Formats: sequence, structure tokens, C-alpha cells
Amino acid sequence: QTADSLYIINSFAQQFFSKQLFDTEEGQAVALSYLKERGFREDIIQKFQLGYSPRQRDAFTSEALKQQYNAELLTKTGIVAERNGELMDNYRERIIFPVHNNTGKIIGFGARIIGKKENAPKYINTPENEVYIKSKILYGTYFARQSIDKNDECLLVEGYTDVISLHQAGIENVVASGGTSLTPDQLRLIKKYSNNLTILYDGDAAGVKAAMRGLDLALEEGLNVHLVLIPDKEDPDSYVNKVGASGFIEFIKQNKKDVILFQLEVMLKDAGNDTTKKAAAVNIIAESISRINKVEDFTRQQDYIHKSAELLKIDEAGLHSLVNKFI
Ligand code: GTP
Ligand code: MN
Ligand code: MN
Ligand code: MN
Ligand code: MN
Repeated sequence: QTADSLYIINSFAQQFFSKQLFDTEEGQAVALSYLKERGFREDIIQKFQLGYSPRQRDAFTSEALKQQYNAELLTKTGIVAERNGELMDNYRERIIFPVHNNTGKIIGFGARIIGKKENAPKYINTPENEVYIKSKILYGTYFARQSIDKNDECLLVEGYTDVISLHQAGIENVVASGGTSLTPDQLRLIKKYSNNLTILYDGDAAGVKAAMRGLDLALEEGLNVHLVLIPDKEDPDSYVNKVGASGFIEFIKQNKKDVILFQLEVMLKDAGNDTTKKAAAVNIIAESISRINKVEDFTRQQDYIHKSAELLKIDEAGLHSLVNKFI
């Protein structure tokens, strides 16, 4: 079956890339040193099975063909690409981040450029295939599920390195979206482990927007969503490296906000004395609150109506009937 063959090739490739990282001069000089400079410990590099794809254009391809792996399947994994009728490596001179499914099988890879280069994407990801279905994948679930269960909370970050750095700091209930907005399938995956989702995104405008985009969907799925905005110019990886594990945990504690009330605060600040804008904000909040009802969580809904009416300085009963209009 195709899926099983893809798992086998991915596993073979992971071992190849890992060996390149640790056991070759090029890997140590170019990649391992880069990872260590960024602060990643060797045990954590091993745990996440990171690797290095060397400079030589067919380093992996020739090895895989020698081992009799099927060319068509190799291309399907995305590790090998065909250029002008020739097969060659697709992730040359990149750090390799394997992506695992919930049982620990490797379904694909993220490949990061080392340093900065013009005209090349920072990350290359596996193309859609039988086992790599982007809309259903959250990076890190395999390593996070136990901790999510124990803490009854799932932290959501943007990138691979955020997940890995937080693990290194002892925060293991964390998964990454890959920087795109959450899909219903991803939200359902989170919900299998916990009802409590805490989004850790950049404090810049793009980060806030990305966090808000998933909000209504998350509410419909019945998730309890909180938000922590990471200080400007930082992401969880850089910030935990800056302030340390205990500093980071304290920061989350101090800055965790209920996402509906956060959205309301942002809109109210923006509206100022503008009554039209304020009325629009009331409508948007009423609609968000109405979505909670779809999962029949009445107590939570009442609680939001109460708190929002207070923030808006409007009549609670009035907000209540507005919410009901959206149902
Ligand atoms: P580092 O710079 O290594 O710390 O990675 P990062 O995770 O901080 O990168 P960034 O915040 O720029 O992007 C967040 C996530 O979006 C990454 O982890 C990737 O999953 C994804 N991403 C970033 N750049 C690209 C890209 O050029 N192509 C694709 N397909 N995905 C990307
Ligand atoms: Mn950003
Ligand atoms: Mn980032
Ligand atoms: Mn980063
Ligand atoms: Mn709360």
C-alpha cells in the first residue's frame, strides 16, 4: 500500500538526514553548529529527530536508489524531485524537521534554510500526498499529547522551532499550526485532547489577525480559547531563550486573556468615542457569543454576556436579546 511505503521511505530518509547531521564533517560544521548556536541541546535535537540534508545534489537520491526504493514513491514524498528528467535532492543544505503523526510515524518534513538567502523560501514543506494532509496536521502532537492530557490545555504556536524550544524549557503541551489559520480538522484534533486552547502568537498585527481568524471556528467546536501575545519582534522560541523557562511560564500566567474579551477590548480601544464603531463592535461580539450556543454551553454564554455588557457599559438584557438574534 502506498501509505506504508511512504512511511518506510520517510523513516529511511530521517535516519539518513540524522546521520548526515551528527556523523559528517559538513553536517557538524554547517548544521549542528547552527542548531547549537540557536540554543538547541543535543538531547532535544535527538528527541525531535532533526537532521541535515547535504549540499551534494543527489546525496539522498543516489543512496535511496541504491537501496532499490521506487523512484515514483521517492518523488511522492517530496524528498526527491525531478529536474529535466533527472532525480535529485529537494532539501539540499537545509535543516530537516520530521513531522510525526499521532503514533510517531513520519509523514513528512519541514526543511529550513541555514542562515538567510535571497530568493529562496525559508521553509520547504512536504507536498500533499497519501499521508501528508496539510489541513489535518499539527506539528508536535505526538510529543505533546500526554502533556496536553495532563495539563488539560493545549498551547498553540506558529513554528517548528517554537515547539522544540518550549519542550526544551519543559513546556511540552504545545503544537504548531505552521503559521496558517486553523482548519476545522485541526481544531477537532485539539479537542480530542483538551477543550482548552491557548494561542501563543506574535504580538504584531499579523499575529493578532491570525489568532482572530480561527476564533469563531474554535468557538463552534466548543473550545475554550485564551490568547497570549508574545512581545514585539519575538516568537515563543526567541522569547523563551531570552527570559528562560520560569520567566516564560510567568509571562504566560500574567498575560493570558480570554479571547472573546480580548477581541472586545481591541475593538473598543479602536472605536473610542465613535458610536457607529462601538455599535459594530457590539454586533461582532454578540455574534461571537452566539456561536458558543451551538455546543449548548449556556453557562459559558451567560458568563460572556455578563462580562461583555460590563465592558461595553450596556444593558445586559439588551445584549442577551441581540445574541439570541444571531442564533
Ligand atoms: P525560525 O526562523 O527557524 O525560528 O522559524 P519560525 O518558525 O520562527 O518561522 P516563522 O515565524 O517565519 O514562520 C512560522 C512557520 O510558518 C514556520 O515554522 C513554517 O512552518 C511556516 N513557514 C515559514 N516560512 C515559510 C516558507 O517560506 N514556506 C512555507 N511553506 N512555510 C513557511
Ligand atoms: Mn509575525
Ligand atoms: Mn516565528
Ligand atoms: Mn523563530
Ligand atoms: Mn477564562
